[in-house]
Amino acid sequence: MSKRLAVVTGGIGGLGTEICRHLARDGRRVIAVDLATRSERLEAFMDEVSDFDGTIGFAPADISDFNSCRALVEGIESAHGNIDILVNAAGITRDASLRKMTPEQWHQLMRVNLDGIFNTSRQVVEGMCERGFGRIVNLSSVNGQTGQFGQTNYSAAKAGVHGFSMALARETARKGVTVNTVSPGYCDTPMVAAVAPAVREQIVADIPVGRLGSPADIARAVAFLAADDAGYITGANLPVNGGYFMSF
Ligand code: CAA
Repeated sequence: MSKRLAVVTGGIGGLGTEICRHLARDGRRVIAVDLATRSERLEAFMDEVSDFDGTIGFAPADISDFNSCRALVEGIESAHGNIDILVNAAGITRDASLRKMTPEQWHQLMRVNLDGIFNTSRQVVEGMCERGFGRIVNLSSVNGQTGQFGQTNYSAAKAGVHGFSMALARETARKGVTVNTVSPGYCDTPMVAAVAPAVREQIVADIPVGRLGSPADIARAVAFLAADDAGYITGANLPVNGGYFMSF
């Protein structure tokens, strides 16, 4: 059997790069999907993955656009074969309290963080079900579980991500396709670095483990759920938040 092919959206981002590396170390062929607009980020990414002997590639797409995702999947499947693993890690923030939030801040975020998982999953689910194997892992957030001041848009989308995972998990459970969510807490990424220092310091002080998460903390949870032998875990949410939010 040829090596499983994984596609990681947001693949050159704060968490995405490490998810790509982790999956490649687990023996997967990986395609990182991201916007092609930021060439210096792409160069940095290609540098970081240069020691993987070409097992990590890049494909440009705007995941907020359905037709862009259709072209993306057709292109990847004709060049590399069927997609076995889809990791939806692309996400943005547009923080503002609701009384200041513009419709554009709301809609931009929904288009990327929520429409994006529909646009990509819709392209791959049929083939995964036909072949009797698939792993879809969607990145939510602790802030989808708890809500966060200034994030009505983000919290709503991230709560929606897990609703999507649970519903799709039911639709595909008999076909060998699992759908799960990983909910990171606050991690050492540019997204979290953009939070005002005083707010961030208070958040870190409230994390029982006493530090921000690392991208590797998240990547290993994603790889765990993407494994061939994880077939009995579906519709689950795996929180990786240093104890910041505990629930049953
Ligand atoms: N908690 C409690 N009160 C807050 C607050 C907060 N985080 N932020 C602002 N306020 C209060 C202010 O003290 C002020 O109170 P008064 O009116 O009594 O003076 C009032 O709310 C100001 O409200 P504004 O609408 O003017 O808010 P703002 O513009 O000052 O701040 C914000 C808005 C910048 C979004 C700020 O709320 C904030 O930084 N929130 C946290 C955002 C955050 O954590 N984002 C996470 C990004 S990383 C990520 O999302 C990754 C992941 O998955 C974890």
